[in-house]
Amino acid sequence: MSKLFECIDVSKTFTIDKSPIEALKKVNFDISLNSSLGIIGPSGCGKSTLLNLLAGLDDPSSGKIIYKGSYISSMTNDERAIWRNEDLGFVYQFHHLLPEFTALENVSMSLQISGVSKSNSFERSEEILEKVGLKERINHLPSELSGGERQRVAIARSMVNEPTCLIMDEPTGDLDTNNASIIIDLILNLIESKDISLILATHDMVFANLLDNIIDLSNG
Ligand SMILES: Nc1ncnc2c1ncn2[C@@H]1O[C@H](COP(=O)(O)OP(=O)(O)OP(=O)(O)O)[C@@H](O)[C@H]1O
Ligand SMILES: [Mg+2]
Repeated sequence: MSKLFECIDVSKTFTIDKSPIEALKKVNFDISLNSSLGIIGPSGCGKSTLLNLLAGLDDPSSGKIIYKGSYISSMTNDERAIWRNEDLGFVYQFHHLLPEFTALENVSMSLQISGVSKSNSFERSEEILEKVGLKERINHLPSELSGGERQRVAIARSMVNEPTCLIMDEPTGDLDTNNASIIIDLILNLIESKDISLILATHDMVFANLLDNIIDLSNG
């Protein structure tokens, strides 16, 4: 099966006040196209750091990350931005919604950037917001939404352009059990029906066990 991502001896060290913090130490794994991978491990073990590296938002201190046969490090910042918009859907741990735009506008932004008309992109965004249970909230600003509702807007935003790969950082972290299971079903249905790969950091072992593979960063 062809590989989507390959991580070879990936390490990341941050330096704070001249003292090094080893966030990731020689991480090795690969993920095939159309498969799902859960990244687990205790708080601070480097899950978010790894997801940022996979999305090209930051660079490893050493080691290589390869996406469909190409080194991410060889892409310019502009190339990375286009690649992220076209191939990846990213859900940040802390949402990162644009505060001055409504839920609908936040979700439709990437479609409009990639050239889809405003009316068409609103239509598709409304559909997906309805799927995550936010039909009544589409014209609300992030500040007018609860934490869990913001999380669901971020999830809708990551899925709307049907990316090759979803990268999600604890997408059910802020949700109650009921909404978490709705979102888990939605994510799993979507990746199956649209042949999307999924890389997901989670503390939820029930969710992680539904995925094809798991890597545990606490063993690093
Ligand atoms: N920008 C940064 N500068 C310095 N240190 C950082 C930075 N980002 C992360 N770290 C450190 O790297 C380590 C890994 O952080 P990371 O956010 O990847 O953990 P995590 O596994 O996602 O944790 P959580 O489950 O709490 O979200 C932590 O010790 C953290 O303090
Ligand atoms: Mg994290």
